[in-house]
Amino acid sequence: MQKDAILITGAAGEIGQALLAQLAAAGKGPLVTLDLQEMPAETPGTHVQGSVADGALLARLEADYEFEQIFHLAALLSTSAERKPALAHEVNVDASLLLLELAARQSAARGGPVQFIFPSSIAVYGLPDLETKAAHPRVHEADFNDPTTMYGCNKLAVEKLGAYYSAHYEQLQPEAPVRPDFRSLRFPGLISAHTAPTGGTSDYGPEMLHAAAQGQAYACFVRPDTTIPFMAMPDAVRALLGLAAAPAAALSRRAYNVGSFSLSAEAFRGQVLAAFPGAEISYAPNPRRQGIVDTWPVDVDDSAARTDWGWAPEYDLARSFDEYLVPHIRERYQKQ
Ligand code: SER
Repeated sequence: MQKDAILITGAAGEIGQALLAQLAAAGKGPLVTLDLQEMPAETPGTHVQGSVADGALLARLEADYEFEQIFHLAALLSTSAERKPALAHEVNVDASLLLLELAARQSAARGGPVQFIFPSSIAVYGLPDLETKAAHPRVHEADFNDPTTMYGCNKLAVEKLGAYYSAHYEQLQPEAPVRPDFRSLRFPGLISAHTAPTGGTSDYGPEMLHAAAQGQAYACFVRPDTTIPFMAMPDAVRALLGLAAAPAAALSRRAYNVGSFSLSAEAFRGQVLAAFPGAEISYAPNPRRQGIVDTWPVDVDDSAARTDWGWAPEYDLARSFDEYLVPHIRERYQKQ
């Protein structure tokens, strides 16, 4: 017999580890985690180590479990995806399609929608130049959907596929099947105190901070004036859980912007120096990675999320650094 469960793919990643802790604390489960990596010791749930793009592995999971909810977090981030575009498509899109198919079959079989939660990104936006970026500092979901990266294309593709599976899948059948309930969030650059990101292009922020906390010099790969939105990891997890908890009838879209604070690399450096006055942070812009961040918006208009399901960040810039990032990062590196 299939067991009820919640599936978290990419569970060993930055969002995954933070989300798992919250799901376990809230008594949610049973939790099934899937990742290429092993999970850290004492992680809750049943872990399956393998690739989310492995169809045979997903078929085994489908036979063993009836998933009521899927948090599909596994992905190659934007810099990694530019280096390996075909692999990025396989992991970021093809695997998502396999999971949407799984969710569609299980929704029909159980007679209730499998909820499918997907982290999208500000990388779906592609501002054509810095003048346009400056002239449109808070982008709405419908604007500038012209990504210039493989990762941004992948995220936008899965948003569209998720909306299709939720609203139109098997639309030629005489009777509409019970379909999955796909919901996604366009996250800004995320910053965790507990993990350092790998392969992203917003990584200069968290890298600056983690380097300073370890007493290491850091050369920032974008210009001082480069400005994009960021969010502290506890708010990202709250956003995922808040969107998941919203009644379907309240949702007017399937992909929502969520914002928190926006700042330049130089202002980020100022925050890090205030906490770690001896930090050595210089600039060595990489024109190619710079080119990617220049297409991302200064900030997002998240009014739809605020209106529809009550989104409001708890960590503004000051609180993110003073109450979350700095104390926890200090503690983390003192322990080592
Ligand atoms: N943080 C991601 C990246 O840099 C963007 O969503 O790739």
